[in-house]
Amino acid sequence: MIEIRNLHKSYAGHDGPVEVLKGIDLVVPEGTITAVVGPSGAGKTTLSHCISLLEKPTSGEILVDGRDLSHLRGRQLRSARRAIGTIFQHSALLRRITVAENVALPLRNLGVVQHEMEDRVAELLDRVGLLHKANAYPGQLSGGQRQRVGIARALALRPRILLSDESTSGLDPETTAQILDLLASLRSDLGLSIILITHEMDVVRHVADQVAALSDGRLSEYGSLPSLVADQDSAVGHQLLPVSALPLPPRFDLALELAYRDGAVDPEWFTRLAVDHGIRLALLGGTVEARGDIALGRAVVGIHSEQYRPAIEALDRLGIQARLRDDAARSTTHDETPLEVVA
Ligand SMILES: Nc1ncnc2c1ncn2[C@@H]1O[C@H](COP(=O)(O)OP(=O)(O)O)[C@@H](O)[C@H]1O
Ligand SMILES: [Mg+2]
Repeated sequence: MIEIRNLHKSYAGHDGPVEVLKGIDLVVPEGTITAVVGPSGAGKTTLSHCISLLEKPTSGEILVDGRDLSHLRGRQLRSARRAIGTIFQHSALLRRITVAENVALPLRNLGVVQHEMEDRVAELLDRVGLLHKANAYPGQLSGGQRQRVGIARALALRPRILLSDESTSGLDPETTAQILDLLASLRSDLGLSIILITHEMDVVRHVADQVAALSDGRLSEYGSLPSLVADQDSAVGHQLLPVSALPLPPRFDLALELAYRDGAVDPEWFTRLAVDHGIRLALLGGTVEARGDIALGRAVVGIHSEQYRPAIEALDRLGIQARLRDDAARSTTHDETPLEVVA
């Protein structure tokens, strides 16, 4: 488990220090994946460098399994770094040595004896499904295979934390999905705390248990992935499950935004509204996606204002939160009288 407490980081600038991280609090429990998202320049890589102990925080604490690693020096620092495995964007393998020798490097640096090293390297390559490539050179592998070798190497010293800064950027979607499945299995099998820094929302939706949004050095949002998707006010939630909606058909005068409030919404909700409550909806856009046995869902529906209140109530009982879309008053219908929205 990793706990980041009130982490600040400043760099020296022309006119005094520039604060890049302005008090970050983040907990990644054992066996979970936290995605860190945010625009370029938000401070993601700085955060990653602080966690991997490449940069010293200006203040604050980084605790790995309860021990503060952020203020160590010398030999203690080098030894503490072993608790954190890092996967780099371009796997950063040495081209002139084999796959097995690349994975062995951290072990060799530590002085592990030859036969133990060979056993461990074989185990690691097997873990990432590349035992058959042990004697190949990095140049003979695909991008996804190289990334898996990078993961094997990051695991060599049995870290408790795995840190990935944009490690799937530039990979095709299928390869990305394979890498993410591998990370998800490492999380579950080895109980790792994984921090996944990415700008790709598909990646986040695929594997993250929690999401932290970094904006100008602060966490603007932080929560479990289902809770952010269920929250209509969450900007990250909208990015995770975007919905683009058709225009309202003429017989409807209101558009509602819906979000599944919990993971157990009845898939027949649409039919039940119609059959049990006589409520007529137009489906204008929506996404429903399975995360394990949890359903994530968002939709935009059209409705007639006469049915607004019973619809909201019925949806609520079905576990779906509804609210008026901002541009709710229709734009292209026959009736010119402004609409009075029932509050
Ligand atoms: N070594 C450094 N010295 C000075 N400023 C830096 C340094 N590293 C990053 N910065 C600044 O910190 C801010 C955040 O950068 P970074 O952490 O790389 O963001 P991100 O990874 O989210 O794009 C940027 O404004 C960047 O210019
Ligand atoms: Mg970066």
